[in-house]
Amino acid sequence: MRIKLLTLFPEMFAPLSASILGRAEKAGLLSLEPIDIRAFTKDKHRRCDDSPFGGGPGMVLTAQPLHDALLHATRGFAARRVLLSPKGRTLTQKRATELAKEEGLILICGHYEGIDQRAIDLWVDEEISIGDYVLTGGELAAMVLIDALARHIPGVLGDGASASEESFMEGLLEYPHYTRPAEFLGLSAPEELLSGAHKRIESWRREKMLTETREKRPDLFAGLELSFDDRVLLGLEEKRRRRSQNREANEE
Ligand code: ADE
Repeated sequence: MRIKLLTLFPEMFAPLSASILGRAEKAGLLSLEPIDIRAFTKDKHRRCDDSPFGGGPGMVLTAQPLHDALLHATRGFAARRVLLSPKGRTLTQKRATELAKEEGLILICGHYEGIDQRAIDLWVDEEISIGDYVLTGGELAAMVLIDALARHIPGVLGDGASASEESFMEGLLEYPHYTRPAEFLGLSAPEELLSGAHKRIESWRREKMLTETREKRPDLFAGLELSFDDRVLLGLEEKRRRRSQNREANEE
């Protein structure tokens, strides 16, 4: 996948050359091409911002350099054009998976108080936000989006990692993980995981996915359509919890 990044701060994308994404780039699975919007300004002082019409605080990114940078970026590259903005639709796992199927993307990173609306109206196919908070610019948001979608490009991750995402796609959080040693600082890994019994391990994991989601993300849990087996697991868990509460109460 080829991604062009329109930004006033191309150097901010340096972290993407580390770790898994760096490896994906070297392997030719991902190409990240920052384009400096400032290189396209026709202002004699190289400015790309101006004060807002109608007054108010902050500065606005002018339409001309962004427009010209986009003319350059789209030459021979018909990609979906995404603006990172707190006004956009909030990024979800589902949207990241869909965007990973695009052959190319142009990500536009705003700065200052905003971008001249005419450049947005002329060019932007979609606005994406990474959450309900305001960043100083779109670069960090673009990096989050790239990381989230690159994981879905075949070959970027090993096979093992993709399975865990399926649980998120189903609207469930992951089960907790444990590895050697079986006991650490007096804390034991769950006996179910050490049992070697495949069925027992599977149902322990499923139960944890359900209970963790219920506890940490009640909003996701409320939208779940639980299977009969899920209800049985939750029923058994509830019984176990009641029994241990009763035991504790009796001991007091
Ligand atoms: N730019 C500033 N804040 C942002 C956000 N929350 N998401 C995406 N882009 C942004």
